[in-house]
Amino acid sequence: MKRVFSGVQPTGNIHLGNYLGALKQFVELQNDYQCVYCIVDMHAITVPQDPAELKKHILDVAALYLAVGVDPEKSIVFVQSDVSGHAELSWLLTCNSYTGELSRMTQFKDKSKNKESAPAGLFMYPVLMAADILLYDTDLVPVGNDQKQHIELCRDIAGRVNGKYPGTFVIPDGYFPKEGARIMALDDPTKKMSKSAENIHSRISLLDEPSKIKKSIMKATTDSDGIIRFDIENKPGVSNLLNIYSALTGESVSSLETRYEGKGYGDFKKDLVTVTADALAPIRDKFNEIRYSSELTQILRDGAARADSIAQKTMARVKENFGLGL
Ligand code: AMP
Ligand code: TRP
Repeated sequence: MKRVFSGVQPTGNIHLGNYLGALKQFVELQNDYQCVYCIVDMHAITVPQDPAELKKHILDVAALYLAVGVDPEKSIVFVQSDVSGHAELSWLLTCNSYTGELSRMTQFKDKSKNKESAPAGLFMYPVLMAADILLYDTDLVPVGNDQKQHIELCRDIAGRVNGKYPGTFVIPDGYFPKEGARIMALDDPTKKMSKSAENIHSRISLLDEPSKIKKSIMKATTDSDGIIRFDIENKPGVSNLLNIYSALTGESVSSLETRYEGKGYGDFKKDLVTVTADALAPIRDKFNEIRYSSELTQILRDGAARADSIAQKTMARVKENFGLGL
């Protein structure tokens, strides 16, 4: 069976972009692949974290994985730092990476902009991500569009290592959803929806109450021509809302355009509020059911053991190929 790997950082405010860009695909791929889903806590510490908050967010993301429909009977769910192979492989990949290619990562450039010096962890972030993926002989990586460059780098590093040490890694492919791969901020549709934006109405968090969902969508930036049409260039706000509607319901954007012909933004937004609230209600219920149950930690422990047994096999092969150890 082919293998899927993906990860989400344990920071607060997991939002509709995370869901439509990544989590929704996690669930859909479960029947056809062996899926390994990780909570990447070692990526989170590339920026300062409060230890108590980090612990809480790890369990929040784990509970959200299950709440959206990741099934621990089918998929492996675990916390990155519980499997030592991630840090170990990361070093071996570091020694096969170049500062030039790492300096070209747009995420690093954004985060280190206007700083004389940046945390080395931020710089090495994509190498740790490559280690996550390659450690499990991954075939497919479901992520949002913002991770495209990191996936390309992972493929480059794996290809380079295979050139030196043949047969070491499986070369993975990225898997990007057609709709939902890039959900934009509701208050400014030229920026992507993010966990850290100050305005809470810029995003819809997966655990938002219906009243908050309504407020955020009704406030969402549109334009003044009043036509519900997909046109990213000229109508980024309306296009983003169409994208969200389509990704949540499966109805195509062109069908939505036809259905809402002659109707106003108000009607369209009201319907989108209903669609969004209906999609998120079962997720919120399941989250509340599972977040404080003892089952959750048991699932993560069991997941770490299963992940570790795959990781150890990969590490033995990689070390042997590199000529490391006894
Ligand atoms: P992160 O929160 O950065 O760990 O992201 C978790 C997953 O959500 C990754 O696969 C991202 O590519 C995806 N993602 C984050 N923001 C967005 C967005 N605005 N639209 C679509 N996907 C996103
Ligand atoms: N960098 C990813 C993000 O910010 C999270 C991540 C870490 C990841 N390791 C991964 C995603 C491995 C896919 C595969 O969204």
